Amino acid sequence: MNALLAALRAVAEPTRLRLFALCAGGEWTVSELVGILRQSQPRVSRHLKLLTDAGLLERFGEGSWVFHRLIQEGAAAGIARRLLTLLPEDDRALALDRERLAEVKWQRSQAAATYFARNAESWDRLRSLHADDAKVERTIKKLLPLRQTDELLDLGTGTGRMLEIFAPDIHRGRGVDLSCEMLAVARANLERTGAANCTVRQADIYQPPFRENCFDAVTIHQVLHFLDDPGRAIALAARMLRPGGRMLIVDFAPHDIEELRLEHEHRRLGFGDKEVAAWFAAAHLKHQRTVHLPGDPLTVSLWLASAKAAGKAPKG
Ligand SMILES: C[S@@+](CC[C@H](N)C(=O)[O-])C[C@H]1O[C@@H](n2cnc3c(N)ncnc32)[C@H](O)[C@@H]1O
Repeated sequence: MNALLAALRAVAEPTRLRLFALCAGGEWTVSELVGILRQSQPRVSRHLKLLTDAGLLERFGEGSWVFHRLIQEGAAAGIARRLLTLLPEDDRALALDRERLAEVKWQRSQAAATYFARNAESWDRLRSLHADDAKVERTIKKLLPLRQTDELLDLGTGTGRMLEIFAPDIHRGRGVDLSCEMLAVARANLERTGAANCTVRQADIYQPPFRENCFDAVTIHQVLHFLDDPGRAIALAARMLRPGGRMLIVDFAPHDIEELRLEHEHRRLGFGDKEVAAWFAAAHLKHQRTVHLPGDPLTVSLWLASAKAAGKAPKG
């Protein structure tokens, strides 16, 4: 009863209710939330602290940024999800916040899109600046052995490298990406390497243009650190998997290289194993294996999960 009372008290104030609703839609810094609410930074910080103290939000620092998001696990997570269902859909203040949130997301995605448009031609070289590509790709193929009957979906396919390396093993590969410039390079790469069984199209990870349950494997290679709601992207990707299908996520382990934010549009400075495992669990995936490939200065992590054989992941 105490947890429920604390949660109810915390949201029983208009600004806090708005913040709670906003944090259900991703991971946000205080300055982003200040921009949406148009209230002073100390006031927003104070309300965020109260929501965090009541167990509804979690706060995590990463380099010079601090993010807030809805609590992911435990009893309070259940309370938080139920409270969200009570939010009035037609409330004008909440609707305006959603619009401003969409604007913040758009601005961020434009910054990333500009970065990828500028770097599409040189992406294959840039990628290998951060990690030993050959080692990572060998490990990817070892962790995710695919068969000639398999269909693969590569989310945030960029220049199509995942499709290229898996093309000889699979029946069909599909790649999606937001950036037309990256996709233009992907098409050229797939043609050059004779990967006629693979195609790419422009789409948002948050709106996958496919039916549910129609892929045997999903790869998300070096994409998650650009996203404002990685957990949601994983949950949506999980729905694309057939029963028993596998998902492989490749990204950086936690690091403190702020320069990647400043110069390469990264939003998150890597991910911890526990965080990814919690997202798998929330997406009803079974975490199978984690591999770390230590590098200097960045460690690449590979997280493998599978969809339950019995049925598809429930919606929500
Ligand atoms: C660092 S690149 C990685 C590309 C490729 N997976 C690789 O490892 O070479 C990240 C890619 O994610 C794409 N991306 C970022 N946000 C996206 C979104 N919301 N939906 C689809 N693609 C997205 C970018 O356009 C970019 O091509």
